[in-house]
Amino acid sequence: MQWQNELTRRLGITYPLIQAPMLGITTPAMVAAISNSGGLGSLPVGGLPPERVTALIREVKGLTQQPFAVNLFTYELPDFNNHKAFNDMQEFLQFLYGANRIAAAPVAFKEVTLISYRDQLNAVMAAGIKLVSFTFGMPDAAAIALLKEHHTVLIGTATSVAEAEAIQAAGVDMVVAQGIEAGGHRGAFLSGELPQVGTMALVPQMVDRVRIPVIAAGGIMDGRGIAAARMLGAAGAQTGSIYLRSHESAAMPSHKAALADITDTDTHLTRAFSGRWARGLHNILMDEVDASGLTISDYPYQAALTQPISKVAKELDNPAFTAMWAGQAAGMAKAWSAADIFAELIRETECLLP
Ligand SMILES: Cc1cc2nc3c(=O)[nH]c(=O)nc-3n(C[C@H](O)[C@H](O)[C@H](O)COP(=O)(O)O)c2cc1C
Repeated sequence: MQWQNELTRRLGITYPLIQAPMLGITTPAMVAAISNSGGLGSLPVGGLPPERVTALIREVKGLTQQPFAVNLFTYELPDFNNHKAFNDMQEFLQFLYGANRIAAAPVAFKEVTLISYRDQLNAVMAAGIKLVSFTFGMPDAAAIALLKEHHTVLIGTATSVAEAEAIQAAGVDMVVAQGIEAGGHRGAFLSGELPQVGTMALVPQMVDRVRIPVIAAGGIMDGRGIAAARMLGAAGAQTGSIYLRSHESAAMPSHKAALADITDTDTHLTRAFSGRWARGLHNILMDEVDASGLTISDYPYQAALTQPISKVAKELDNPAFTAMWAGQAAGMAKAWSAADIFAELIRETECLLP
């Protein structure tokens, strides 16, 4: 089958298949496995200190000579000063932890560290990265101009046609159409109600309205999904949940185990962990925060509040207190190596579209 298209040519890859960046899950080994297989691995660095960005890029480069993307969170840091909401949530969380015999340090509002994508750009460009994807918004005009001066190909994330049009108008090269099925955070960034458009409805409408290549994401778990995305006009597919159980995934064992048993209705959208809408599996923290009726602080303040317990829970392999992100089709994820999962995607798609 003919895999080569505008996307593969611009990205310098063999197959128009992108491993979704998944902060906290994606390891350098996962990125390298996909890039070495002819797809595009994506290294998530949203919110990480520049020196960590440099170290992670170096690690990936030690494992592959093929192209890979670096993924940024391109939102404007919020002017958030609702100390009461922050403190009330903190008090509630500490009570919840105590009631469940688990402990994590409280967080002082003034100690919340905010790292903008702007602070990371030098590290990304100094490392010679030429493919940058982003979510939660768009880089500002100056950042786009700077990245373009460095001959960087830019990949945005849109959850509606209007967002894709804004991304195109800013001069971004290609766009991920993130359907509501997708695991992890919603990339939505325009004000107003959260777009909740499914991949099947989003992709063809986006393809009809923008000239830049559209990459389908959300609920794609096998060759059927990739073939369907192509039929809808997508130039490629970005898949995340499919790699959650892979050998290279940093998901804790209980997260991987839970995915083996879930059905199509087991994931939910919540702001409980970070202050931004994201899709994952139910657990105590999600359910209790959502039911509390308390004001959830803006991203990333809520994320800062839940970060210490998340760290403790991961160390203890306790699924009740850390986010277990998953897409609506994550129950189809295989506990294989990332390279084997990728090879199977190619094989299945080629059977359907000879
Ligand atoms: C665990 C997890 C973490 C994610 N983290 C990021 C991220 O750091 N940056 C990003 O652009 N997208 C992130 N996403 C969203 C993916 O890019 C993509 O939209 C999604 O995985 C596609 O849907 P699927 O999970 O059904 O394959 C994440 C998704 C998951 C499941």
